[in-house]
Amino acid sequence: MKIAIIGAGNMGGSIAQGLCIGQLIPTANITVSDLDTAKLNALEIKYPDIHTTSDNEAAAETADIVILAVKPWLVDTVLKKLDLSKKQILVSIAAGISFEQLAHAVIEPEMPMFRVIPNTAISELESLNAIATRNVTKEQETLILSIFNEMGTSIVLPEDKLSAATALASCGIAYVLKYIQAAMQAGVEMGIRPEDAMNMVAQSVKGAAELILKNDTHPSIEIDKVTTPGGITIRGINELEHAGFASAIIRAMKASQ
Ligand SMILES: NC(=O)c1ccc[n+]([C@@H]2O[C@H](COP(=O)([O-])OP(=O)(O)OC[C@H]3O[C@@H](n4cnc5c(N)ncnc54)[C@H](OP(=O)(O)O)[C@@H]3O)[C@@H](O)[C@H]2O)c1
Repeated sequence: MKIAIIGAGNMGGSIAQGLCIGQLIPTANITVSDLDTAKLNALEIKYPDIHTTSDNEAAAETADIVILAVKPWLVDTVLKKLDLSKKQILVSIAAGISFEQLAHAVIEPEMPMFRVIPNTAISELESLNAIATRNVTKEQETLILSIFNEMGTSIVLPEDKLSAATALASCGIAYVLKYIQAAMQAGVEMGIRPEDAMNMVAQSVKGAAELILKNDTHPSIEIDKVTTPGGITIRGINELEHAGFASAIIRAMKASQ
């Protein structure tokens, strides 16, 4: 199984890294194409077996799976130059580019296609991958799910739910990072060294996520456990409410849709 990644930026580079760390695809079967050789060199230094090129067509030619990871406005131009066949699988990670638009840019519009919206934690194998499918067999769906499950958790959704999933999980990671940054600032003001504050907050975020993901519980139940009546946590929680925290999150998510 050979994979070509077109575009080695934040996301394409992270996917390449995730695939190299994972066990499913041998590193020697991964080709990454980008016009920026510095990004390719950085990948080669980390993963000497990986293939790199600046020739998108050559990269895609022999691949079973082509992952398109260029900016959305370049998708049409880049895709039109790739001579993809029905035997290949196209995986587009371009946010907001529909199957219909992808189909218009390929020679065989009925070829198997996936739209995957990961987040940058894919390099740590901790991404949430929202996946939509078009003209794929059960085997192809299982294959792509197994590849992306190795780099995190995947969920298959109808295409019209992808933009909401993008807001929640892809843009959402930036909002969580923003929380970490803000909490760090508070920590520094209270006399904690920035690096210690960062570790404390990041570990708390990881712990909160683990409580939810591993115990099939609910945020309200977990919040209840730490809010003693008359205690300090409820004071902070209510400050967040007064400042419009929940409303700000809801508005941010909806704005990103
Ligand atoms: N970043 C995210 O969190 C995220 C999440 C989900 C989906 N996505 C999607 O992922 C895609 C890539 O986003 P990104 O953040 O990774 O962007 P990016 O960092 O700009 O990466 C795109 C890469 O493609 C390269 N490139 C430009 N033209 C090319 C061409 N003709 N052939 C081959 N490579 C070319 C760019 O090189 P130059 O820098 O030299 O132009 C850059 O290295 C987008 O469609 C985005 O919607 C991103």
